[in-house]
Amino acid sequence: MSPVSLWNAHAPEFVSDPFVVEEHADVIVVGAGLTGLLTATLLARAGVDVLVLEARTPGAVTSGNTTAKISVLQGTKLSTILSHHSQKLGRAYVEANTDGQALLLALCAEWGVPVDVRDAYTYAVSDEGLKQARKEFEANEKLGLGVEWVETSELPYDIKGAVRMPAQAQFDPMDLIAAAITDIRAHGGRVVSGVRVTGVDVESPTLVETERGDVHAENVVLATGIPILDRGGYFAKVSPTRSYAIAFTGAAATPQGMYLSADTPSRSVRQATVDGVDYLIIGGNDHPVGRGGSEREKVEDLVAWTEQHFPGAEVAYSWSAQDYSSHNQIPFVGALPRGRGTVYMATGYDKWGMTNAAAASLRLTAELTDAEQPGWAKVWGTRITTPADLAEGALHNAEVGVEIVKGWAHVLTGAPSEAPAEGQGVVTRASDGLAPVGTSTVDGKTCAVSAVCPHLGGVVSWNDQEQSWDCPLHGSRFSAQGDLLEGPAVAGLAAHE
Ligand SMILES: Cc1cc2nc3c(=O)[nH]c(=O)nc-3n(C[C@H](O)[C@H](O)[C@H](O)COP(=O)(O)OP(=O)(O)OC[C@H]3O[C@@H](n4cnc5c(N)ncnc54)[C@H](O)[C@@H]3O)c2cc1C
Ligand code: FES
Repeated sequence: MSPVSLWNAHAPEFVSDPFVVEEHADVIVVGAGLTGLLTATLLARAGVDVLVLEARTPGAVTSGNTTAKISVLQGTKLSTILSHHSQKLGRAYVEANTDGQALLLALCAEWGVPVDVRDAYTYAVSDEGLKQARKEFEANEKLGLGVEWVETSELPYDIKGAVRMPAQAQFDPMDLIAAAITDIRAHGGRVVSGVRVTGVDVESPTLVETERGDVHAENVVLATGIPILDRGGYFAKVSPTRSYAIAFTGAAATPQGMYLSADTPSRSVRQATVDGVDYLIIGGNDHPVGRGGSEREKVEDLVAWTEQHFPGAEVAYSWSAQDYSSHNQIPFVGALPRGRGTVYMATGYDKWGMTNAAAASLRLTAELTDAEQPGWAKVWGTRITTPADLAEGALHNAEVGVEIVKGWAHVLTGAPSEAPAEGQGVVTRASDGLAPVGTSTVDGKTCAVSAVCPHLGGVVSWNDQEQSWDCPLHGSRFSAQGDLLEGPAVAGLAAHE
């Protein structure tokens, strides 16, 4: 089984532009996922001199590990928004996502990126799921969206009912990423990989610090999934959720629609054809990053569920990724507080980033080029935080508080007397003090690192599926050797001697 996503496994090799220390650009975009690359595309097309800096490679984090449904029907999203907010804000969310979808489809058509037009479904197999799916149907109708209620489906198991939205879309996100990079370069922009931004100093021009030296820009866009700067405290306004996706070959019948269940645990189903091979992609078993028990068991559960319902299915690719949900349900897009109006960010897509990242790119480009904002962006800008949002934020931050205490209280025992078994990791107290130490064994090599997250001091926990150290506070993740993989941290775990 490959740990690489179906999309990344078939993506063309990326060749970086050179990194030039002390270079100046009009706008530096930090992060080459969908948000960063679409924003850079629109800016470069508007004549702006753009430099994209990516810590890893384009699409390495969430955008290349998504399930890539380009849909305005988004599980139970609209009913959740309407249970927190006004119809006006719900409508603005729909308009943003409709604009985002239209932008993506137009770019795909222009660039020759293949897109499959498919119906989207929010379906239910349980009584509770049925209640949620019905609510979603009503929310979609209230907001004037063209949906219908159906009671049968092509899925190989019984459903209690489903919302159907016709003519949505799906694609291979790495095709879009490759095409966007070509377009950015054709308009004079640069896309540089292997450069991690570690800080931004708001001077004139703004100074961008990286692990490889400083660069300068008039404006900076943090398209880093969750903002890497703590100004504005967005790490406490969004929750990181990790989920799993598996591409199977050989299933007897592969549904052609795009499905997401309203039940818990959720199940996502879609089909994909890549290089002439037909795949069934199953997703689900979400959980807060670094919490919720064995990640490996979650994958095994998803495989067992698929084998039961889709006889003949065999795992070809298995991967996981995380996304961030905003406590008030609507993404945060715009200027970062205390950034003197020169630092921008976008986060909080709640696993609906195909359309939301595209919408964010429209809004950010309008702000950065002094163009008229889309109408929905003005409504997003005036949203208020409701008591339900505050309650959700308070609950999340209380859970984070519990994790802080649990993490430190858990570290009672001294260094392990034996190396952990292959693929396992354990957090213990340093033999010469109180500091938590993470010791793991991967590919026969035992490695000890500090188990204290450099972001804000959370104690990391071992992810037995990905063999990584994951922070249960705000979702930073690190390799067994302590190298930073993703999240709000800007440095890796310190080595433990
Ligand atoms: C399992 C799963 C399935 C999903 N399925 C769907 C779906 O079907 N439809 C849908 O609409 N959405 C889906 N989503 C959500 C969607 O994939 C994401 O919302 C979207 O890809 C986020 O894009 P992004 O550009 O904001 O972040 P990312 O793609 O994570 O890009 C951020 C980039 O910033 C880089 N970076 C971070 N820090 C630094 C730094 N300090 N310096 C330089 N670079 C840095 C990272 O390396 C990364 O490449 C799914 C998400 C998950 C987890
Ligand atoms: S991610 Fe914030 S403390 Fe680890």
